[in-house]
Amino acid sequence: MADKLPPRTPLPQGFSQTPDHDGTRRNQPCGAGAKTPVMYQPLGPEWLDAVAALEKLCFSTPWSGEQYRALHERGVCLLFGALREKNLLGYVALSRLDGDDTMEIFNIAVSPIERGKGIAGRLLRLCLLAARKAGGARVLLEVRESNVPAIALYRRAGFTLQGRRKRYYTRPVEDALLYRCDLKRVSE
Ligand SMILES: CC(C)(COP(=O)(O)OP(=O)(O)OC[C@H]1O[C@@H](n2cnc3c(N)ncnc32)[C@H](O)[C@@H]1OP(=O)(O)O)[C@@H](O)C(=O)NCCC(=O)NCCS
Repeated sequence: MADKLPPRTPLPQGFSQTPDHDGTRRNQPCGAGAKTPVMYQPLGPEWLDAVAALEKLCFSTPWSGEQYRALHERGVCLLFGALREKNLLGYVALSRLDGDDTMEIFNIAVSPIERGKGIAGRLLRLCLLAARKAGGARVLLEVRESNVPAIALYRRAGFTLQGRRKRYYTRPVEDALLYRCDLKRVSE
């Protein structure tokens, strides 16, 4: 049920708001920023405007801060972020579908200049562990069929293709591929 999902979820083992040195290892140029750790943590409502701003940067049909706020207020949305010194580098948003133990990732994005460093992989893992902890049995998502990086990310995390929704997206019009991950196969 939607109302069983807490607005904030304690971090699963391995995500105890400690710095992620893996997240800064790959593709990181030399310089002052290279050693600043990335932190992974649940995001409260104070982060919704930053999430919406990043969303705008990453999607052709972005959700607004208000849309995120509405979901958050209903208590059906879990948000996790990757932060460096209070800057939001990436986020993943997950909600519980009404009436069963199915969850849905409705967005995951990383700032363009921070991609290729393992941030989305880490966020996705964090969110799958949290979904399992919150009683979810499976996680679903949709992705544009041309979105090669996202499809590779999901497959790598254990998602399998379930189907296709014709002409689901606009700007540009495109089919959605439907993926699913069984949470019993996700381990700490
Ligand atoms: C998809 C996205 C979230 C990936 O973020 P990221 O932080 O760069 O991804 P990571 O560095 O964690 O990569 C994790 C895995 O994803 C896959 N991947 C990521 N970027 C890739 C690319 N450009 N090409 C191929 N595979 C890629 C790889 O399997 C990678 O694992 P590996 O590096 O060990 O091979 C990012 O490209 C993005 O924000 N895109 C725009 C928003 C979007 O399309 N979101 C998905 C909506 S459905």
